Amino acid sequence: MGNTPIVQTLIELSRQEKISLHMPGHKQGQRPGFLAGWLGEALQYDQTEIGSLDSLHSPAGPIRQAESLVAELYGTKATYFTTNGSTAGLIASLLASASPGAEVIVPRNAHKAVLAGIILADLLPRFVTPAYHGGYELGITAASLQAALEQYPQAQAVVLLSPTYEGVTGDLAQLVSLAKAAHCNVIVDEAHGAHFLFHPCMPLSAVCTQADWVVQSAHKTLTALTGAAWVHRLNDNFADDWLRSRLNLVQTTSPSWLILGSLDIAQYELRRNGRTWLERAVEQASQLRQAILQHTPFSIWTVPSTGSYKQDPLKIVVQTTGSGYTGYELARYLEDHGIFVEMAKAQGILLMLTLADTKLPTELLVRCLNSLPRRHPQTRDSLPPPPPAPPLVLSPRSAYLAPTSCVDAAAAAGRIAARAVYAYPPGSPLIYPGELIERELLVYVDEFRARGGYLTGLQEDTWVVVAEN
Ligand SMILES: Cc1ncc(COP(=O)(O)O)c(C=O)c1O
Repeated sequence: MGNTPIVQTLIELSRQEKISLHMPGHKQGQRPGFLAGWLGEALQYDQTEIGSLDSLHSPAGPIRQAESLVAELYGTKATYFTTNGSTAGLIASLLASASPGAEVIVPRNAHKAVLAGIILADLLPRFVTPAYHGGYELGITAASLQAALEQYPQAQAVVLLSPTYEGVTGDLAQLVSLAKAAHCNVIVDEAHGAHFLFHPCMPLSAVCTQADWVVQSAHKTLTALTGAAWVHRLNDNFADDWLRSRLNLVQTTSPSWLILGSLDIAQYELRRNGRTWLERAVEQASQLRQAILQHTPFSIWTVPSTGSYKQDPLKIVVQTTGSGYTGYELARYLEDHGIFVEMAKAQGILLMLTLADTKLPTELLVRCLNSLPRRHPQTRDSLPPPPPAPPLVLSPRSAYLAPTSCVDAAAAAGRIAARAVYAYPPGSPLIYPGELIERELLVYVDEFRARGGYLTGLQEDTWVVVAEN
């Protein structure tokens, strides 16, 4: 197989090794059994750091070479692999970008991994509320970011989310340059945009901006195994081990070689086939979009024509508003017919294609959407945006580590949250630890649940709050 240093080293090792006196305990599947039967040949490559294999914590061999290939492909200064998803990449980027106690500007719809970084790095989040359109987030505007930068001149870092879960980007280049002009380190959470660079229909890739760190999940929109991600460094201001040393704090010392190998193959496939595979996927997405619009009662959500918003053509948001069904109900109906979608919300479902889609059964999908029994529109098939950020009374870290008590919703108003509460996906906290629980949020949570939504962080009706002494 072409230039895939990790995979080639693994293949060579499996040919060389006659006797295994080391971890992992399954010994590359020597003893026939359920695991070997299940994973087959793949088990040969589930290795540990022996022979010419490398260390993810201090790579100097095939991992280093594979990272350099990715850096070359994306045109970055350096790229760092992680087997713990963009989650580890975001935590490490935050640890690398601001000192304890510093302020960091964060979009309110940031993923919970950003909260984890804020807690671990002991930062103070200052929120910017994203713009909404038809019930979906568009992202933060340049004006709202500029206002936050002026309000918090001491902020050391800015986190940008691009694209949103629904694939929406705004004027990323401008957002980055505003943050850089204010001397902030800039982290772009591009977990859903690792493919953007490889097709002209795609929104701008963050690697083409002046950001400092760009975090991408190679497992989300590329072909790598779940958990595979990388972080790009776009400037020379940080030493080479600055991010790696932070990543090492949150990564296992026994990374999966299957995941590492899949990162290697993802770069190889992107290089070789990225453009053609994306071309095919974009074409199929366009056909599916047309078929839904022409042959089903559903509409498709799109970004407004004004402004500089763009949407990843591989994300299709089917709106259920006005159909009498919530997105949760439609998603369940489709599941009963063997069709599983990326995400459901009160107001619709998200269909996601990737460069791995070869032949989508468009007709089957359309038939299934059409077979849904008709209903009268209901008031509960849409939901307003969540309330804006309430006052932050304690730092998220202090609140998270504080003694807690559990109270019911009636007693939660006016208390300080000790845990985040969020729907997964998309995983953006409705409330951060350290924030005041306000009535507005309690009402929103009731409305959210009344539509069939599920929230993590709440046990039944119980809120985890900072204990009063
Ligand atoms: C916007 C965003 N950022 C970060 C993450 C975390 O990515 P990973 O699952 O690769 O850790 C997710 C996961 O869904 C996400 O949606």
